[in-house]
Amino acid sequence: MLFYFTGTGNCLYAAKQLESDPISIPQVIHQENLVFEDEKIGIVAPVYGHEVPSMVKEFMHKATFKTAYFYMVLTYGNRHGGAALLAKQLCAECGIEPAYINVLLMVDNWLPAFDMDEQRQIDKKVESQLDAIKADLDEGKRIISKVTEEDMAAHQGFVDRMASQPSDAWQHLLKVTEKCIGCGICAKVCPSASMRIVDGKAVHTPGNCQTCLACIHACPQNAISLTVPEKNPNARYRNEHISLQEIIKANQQA
Ligand SMILES: Cc1cc2nc3c(=O)[nH]c(=O)nc-3n(C[C@H](O)[C@H](O)[C@H](O)COP(=O)(O)O)c2cc1C
Repeated sequence: MLFYFTGTGNCLYAAKQLESDPISIPQVIHQENLVFEDEKIGIVAPVYGHEVPSMVKEFMHKATFKTAYFYMVLTYGNRHGGAALLAKQLCAECGIEPAYINVLLMVDNWLPAFDMDEQRQIDKKVESQLDAIKADLDEGKRIISKVTEEDMAAHQGFVDRMASQPSDAWQHLLKVTEKCIGCGICAKVCPSASMRIVDGKAVHTPGNCQTCLACIHACPQNAISLTVPEKNPNARYRNEHISLQEIIKANQQA
């Protein structure tokens, strides 16, 4: 059994390589019964500020995983900042003993720092990383991937920088521009029902936004932008193996 969270398809792609029918966290998190039992149970999630998205944390806190082998694969684009160790700490808070946690370098979809056209050109050797992870999981290896002092220092630097920002700064990252035609795709790809169409225009409601950027990357009009400068405001991203319909199926609420 394998769960995943995705904004732009990287985690769904990775999850599909590891198991044939992975389960989307936004589709199960509101279910009453969150007790899961299997020989192996895994989570594939993106790294946001070196940690997993808040919805993944919430899911891990709420759910009970009855398994002898709990694993996590964390996709990131540039610097994981000790994500494996931070995930191990999260597991401990949730009463989970992880057997395996690894990181997987993929396209970085973080628009303030990266140009999606450039990111697509970089060969991050995703397939060979995935083959190695698959082999580890098949063998039932017990490894938490290595975290250096430099990784932890990078994370601490990030935490320190965030401390000077308002605590809800991340909730106000998106703005809908006049280019919006009200097609509703942003609402369909949003895993937290933070986007809806009002009077023919998309409206973003802060509060539970995961900042996954699914809406901004999927908008066919390029009508959603960030409230902070973007590296290339014209370039958007979806994993090349994943369709828009798959993102909708993974994330659509109600
Ligand atoms: C809000 C946000 C924060 C991110 N933080 C990091 C980070 O700290 N380090 C990193 O290497 N990549 C970071 N990324 C990049 C994603 O982890 C990466 O692109 C991931 O594979 C996206 O997965 P998805 O396509 O399934 O949504 C961040 C992306 C977003 C949207």
